[in-house]
Amino acid sequence: MKKINPTKTNSWQKLKKHFLDEKVVLKKAFQENPNRKKELSFVLDDFSLDLSKNLISSKTLDLLIGLAEEMQLKNAIEKQFKGEKINHTENRAVLHTALRDFSNNKITVNKKNIRSEITETLNKIESFSKKIISGELKGYSGKAFTDIVNIGIGGSDLGPKMVVQALKYYKNHLNTHFISNIDGDHSAEILKNLNTETTLFVVVSKTFTTQETLSNVNFAKKWFLKSAPEKEIKKHFVAVSTNINKVTEFGIDNKNIFTMWNWVGGRYSLWSAVGLSIALSVGFSNFKELLKGANKMDVHFKNTPFNENLPVLDALIGIWYNNFYHSETEAILPYSQYLEYFVPFIQQLMMESNGKSVDNNGEKVNYQTGYVVWGNTGTNMQHAFMQLIHQGTKLIPTQFIGFKSSLYGNENHHKKLMANFYAQQEALAYGKTKEKVHLDLKLNGQADKIEKLLPFKVFDGNKPSTTILLEKLTPFNIGMLISFYEHKTFTQGVIWNINCFDQYGVELGKELANKILG
Ligand code: F6P
Repeated sequence: MKKINPTKTNSWQKLKKHFLDEKVVLKKAFQENPNRKKELSFVLDDFSLDLSKNLISSKTLDLLIGLAEEMQLKNAIEKQFKGEKINHTENRAVLHTALRDFSNNKITVNKKNIRSEITETLNKIESFSKKIISGELKGYSGKAFTDIVNIGIGGSDLGPKMVVQALKYYKNHLNTHFISNIDGDHSAEILKNLNTETTLFVVVSKTFTTQETLSNVNFAKKWFLKSAPEKEIKKHFVAVSTNINKVTEFGIDNKNIFTMWNWVGGRYSLWSAVGLSIALSVGFSNFKELLKGANKMDVHFKNTPFNENLPVLDALIGIWYNNFYHSETEAILPYSQYLEYFVPFIQQLMMESNGKSVDNNGEKVNYQTGYVVWGNTGTNMQHAFMQLIHQGTKLIPTQFIGFKSSLYGNENHHKKLMANFYAQQEALAYGKTKEKVHLDLKLNGQADKIEKLLPFKVFDGNKPSTTILLEKLTPFNIGMLISFYEHKTFTQGVIWNINCFDQYGVELGKELANKILG
């Protein structure tokens, strides 16, 4: 891990020169090299990454890989997986990967093997979720639970909420709800239709000090106590936290507390007991599949040379646009309504992690770091913001995420969905020439309007896109997908020489809100 200014490396200088010397024109690049797609596509199991529609050549990739090597990315990855305290500002290890590592390898933090703690918590998640799903554990009036309410915010909400929605196809009879915002109306709306006798609250807060979560849990407690006696709280409230004292003070039974560890950051925590509502919603075996999928990507990230390493390559492409093309953003476009909450999750992951302007040495950076991540599901977004990407003035690299087959087997719909998926990328890459517009207008009987309409109907093209294609939306594949973005984020952080794992920018807002409230 080389804690140096990346712009001072030889590779950076070479990339700068290469950027000025060689401008890739996608149409030409594909015409000149019929193997381009094959040469720039990379596969891991059901997961494929096609980089061919990006403004790169194989030389660009080589130079970017050179930059990763010069910044000692390999060493940084080793340090992360070994449990070294790479979150140096908070003096913490970063080991979310350990939560999904089912090997027998020793994982140590502060010279202590943490494997047994992880297994113990996983066993607790398994046994608790099984008992709730089967109805063995019941509410205060003897009825089985029907509804789960997850109360938490940021990493204690976005991850579980995104995965519960993503895996809706695999869900059981329990209905899962999420309360996060400090918007009393929203909390009231959720509780309005629930029955205290059959509702289980899962309170997730790493610190158990977050204003939103504490307010919402007190609100839920009040609502519950309107119909149930205080002693029944222990049957209906469970907590996931590192702050055992605060949770006990609140009245949650010790045996209903699921541990968290400070070596797992909030936005990387869905793999821990923070994912309890996922296990409740889709069952423990599906939760385990999710972890196994993430582990598949972890092992790939850790062991694969950079020239075939999916998260590393995608991260480098992001750096190429951000730091050389000076593009300020990346759009994430999943073609699946199940991935409705994927973009907000990725926003926290990438923007909270890499929204930093001070480097690992405490110096103000003089180059661009984390970029704006945004997006929405296709095809809805085609009828909303895609116009700006196609014909606007900004360069917005896009990431299209799709699945080869649908879950319910509605082939007719799925073919149309995927036709749109590919059509957008084609339009972005190749655009529409004057000649084609001319011909189309003529064929449509609008020859008299050619002069007027022609400039408006021309698409410049040469807009970059990346294709992420998975076979099917399964828990395993979703695990791979999330882990892919986690490692992409880390790779970019290493290259930018920043700490991906603190979030002091958010802490300030929390502090001030409490002051102003006072
Ligand atoms: O948004 C900042 C943050 O610290 C996130 O990193 C975290 O996921 C969230 O607040 C919630 O914090 P907690 O889990 O401690 O309530």
